Amino acid sequence: MASQNLLLLPGDGIGQEIMLEVKKVIAWYNAKGGMSFETDEGLVGGSAYDAHGKAISEEDMAKAMACDAVIFGAVGGPKWDDVPYDVRPEAGLLRLRKDMELFANLRPAICYPALADASSLKRDVIEGLDILIVRELTGGVYFGEPKEIIDLGNGQKRGIDTQVYDTYEIERISGVAFELARTRRNKVTSMEKRNVMKSGVLWNEVVSQTHQNGYQDVELEHMLADAGGMQLVRWPKQFDVIVTDNLFGDMLSDVAAMLTGSLGMLPSASLGAPDGVTGKRKAMYEPVHGSAPDIAGTGAANPIAMIASFSMALRYSFEEVAAADLLDKAIAAVLDKGLRTKDIASEGQATVSTSEMGDAIVAELDALSA
Ligand code: IPM
Ligand code: MG
Repeated sequence: MASQNLLLLPGDGIGQEIMLEVKKVIAWYNAKGGMSFETDEGLVGGSAYDAHGKAISEEDMAKAMACDAVIFGAVGGPKWDDVPYDVRPEAGLLRLRKDMELFANLRPAICYPALADASSLKRDVIEGLDILIVRELTGGVYFGEPKEIIDLGNGQKRGIDTQVYDTYEIERISGVAFELARTRRNKVTSMEKRNVMKSGVLWNEVVSQTHQNGYQDVELEHMLADAGGMQLVRWPKQFDVIVTDNLFGDMLSDVAAMLTGSLGMLPSASLGAPDGVTGKRKAMYEPVHGSAPDIAGTGAANPIAMIASFSMALRYSFEEVAAADLLDKAIAAVLDKGLRTKDIASEGQATVSTSEMGDAIVAELDALSA
């Protein structure tokens, strides 16, 4: 197999520690999984700011544009609370998303059977849960202009963010959602606020039109985003694929993540459009959780979301479905055996460290492929 180039951007806080664990997994696939990954490493977020005064350097940005997939840890922390807004840690992440045109963010929320009791919801509500949130990632209020604070001159200021969507942006994200639904339970729920937002009216229309034009075999349902949030905690199993905008997707995916018992479990993939010549998509894989500065350096971080993000890279960037399935199985197996990092342990249960969890997953890869 031709060698694939990965750019590792551990970032800040626990990003560093969880990246060490995914490196073990990458090394396993190189040595025993019949694959060939070459890795390079860069800085993003606060660590990039400390080194270059920017949330990501031009050099690392160029590497991200050129590699086959970016594996991203997490950014941010109180240390950088006072840095200028445009070089704050999150700006590095947002620049990667925007410049790589990663418009489709896939956030699966899967409840591992072994963890059903770690959820704040009742077991029967979340047992067997398997939903996929498809979040639009390069538009909406995150990037709309104007985006500013202006001085009104009368002792008042005005903060402005702009929610804006063009037809093509809604078409392409809903197309991704319909395609993915076909590989799952064939249902898409689109969420917006058409009752108060013009962008919601357009979103609703374009999703329906896209459905009409090529995906009538998929079941489509529309829901107001606030009702969708309520339904997510009431009966999440009614959903298969949820497609929504950048801001609603940010919030709803945190809700969905917590349903499963821990934010520390959930991976994500951010994908661009297929390249006209090679058909390859630019891609970045990152855990849904943040940099958790409060536990950084204590060995308490859960590396599963990071490792599961690499599994998504195997699946979506490298079409190595069997290898991705194997890694998902290894993760489920260590959980079945009762291994728990602190975030997913029930009261009184023994816990393992970040590196012990990574080692156990690698040992499970050995066992499952023996
Ligand atoms: C996420 C995060 C980011 C976002 C932050 C870190 C900018 O919350 O990926 O969900 O708001 O998109
Ligand atoms: Mg978020």
